Amino acid sequence: MRKIFLTATAAMLLFSCNNEDKSVTETNETTASAHRGCASDEVLLRQLKEDPGLAQRMKDIELQTADAIANGRIVNGVMEIPVVFNVLYRTAAENISDAQLQSQIDVLNQDFNAQNADFNTPNNPYSSVRANVGIRFVLDAINRKSTTKSSWGTRDTMKKSNRGGINPTSPTTKLNIWVCTIGGGILGYAQFPGGSSATDGVVLDSKYTGNTGTATYPFNLGRTATHEVGHWMNLRHIWGDATCGSDLVADTPTHNTANYGVPAVGHTSTCAGTPLEMYMNYMDYTDDRGMYMFSNDQKDRMLAIFNVGGSRASFR
Ligand code: ARG
Ligand code: ZN
Ligand code: CA
Repeated sequence: MRKIFLTATAAMLLFSCNNEDKSVTETNETTASAHRGCASDEVLLRQLKEDPGLAQRMKDIELQTADAIANGRIVNGVMEIPVVFNVLYRTAAENISDAQLQSQIDVLNQDFNAQNADFNTPNNPYSSVRANVGIRFVLDAINRKSTTKSSWGTRDTMKKSNRGGINPTSPTTKLNIWVCTIGGGILGYAQFPGGSSATDGVVLDSKYTGNTGTATYPFNLGRTATHEVGHWMNLRHIWGDATCGSDLVADTPTHNTANYGVPAVGHTSTCAGTPLEMYMNYMDYTDDRGMYMFSNDQKDRMLAIFNVGGSRASFR
């Protein structure tokens, strides 16, 4: 989208300059000094003389351009998010392998780019609003720390080195994912945009991370991270965390409540209008094999936070 827009803008500039070129040529046809070319440069020279602040502003733009090219995270129009894994382990099983962590990166890339094998599940009544979110994840670093804790709960202690955890690495430019035993039947949790950067990121139970190694059925396909990263990108649960609640997304139907397992095809809601529920959405609570899509309006909500001025614009 962005690339197309830039290309269109560039084409318009060329087009308008060509027009100008033509009219200049026409009006000056008879004069030997007919000046050819785009007038932008001479307009710029005039403005530089008349506007004392312009030269410095243009210098700043060049600095920002060079920085964005060198360090920017939008590659061919696609956001690239570096991921730092922070693994906390007491047992050998909890110290999951690099391969299992890489499998989680692979699942995220599939699910956020409409490349998951189940994306085209037949007879999906919501196939017309299936999104290719177009965000890529790149493994940046793996930190490991041995601990004496057998479970970490949901109070963010795994994110604090002075509590035996691991502090986040560059949380305003990298997605930190803590992998540990959470306990209490919790598969994972995320911090929404707007929270403190000291605790920003996602927590996954090591048994529900990736799709290989210790990954455990029925949450063995890496979808806990897909769901939690959805929260981290500002998505709410599809049932709006209330009976027939709102998820602030226009193209998702109203659900009575969370769905579990793998709902029967055609499962409808008893909320107003009795819509067919979108139980195959990543922001429901079904088993991993039951979820395989984000919707187009969920995509818009996620991308919005990465725009200039958005709460996660620092990731650009
Ligand atoms: N926060 C949710 C929980 O811990 C995660 C649900 C993820 N669902 C899944 N199929 N992996 O219960
Ligand atoms: Zn959730
Ligand atoms: Ca909705």
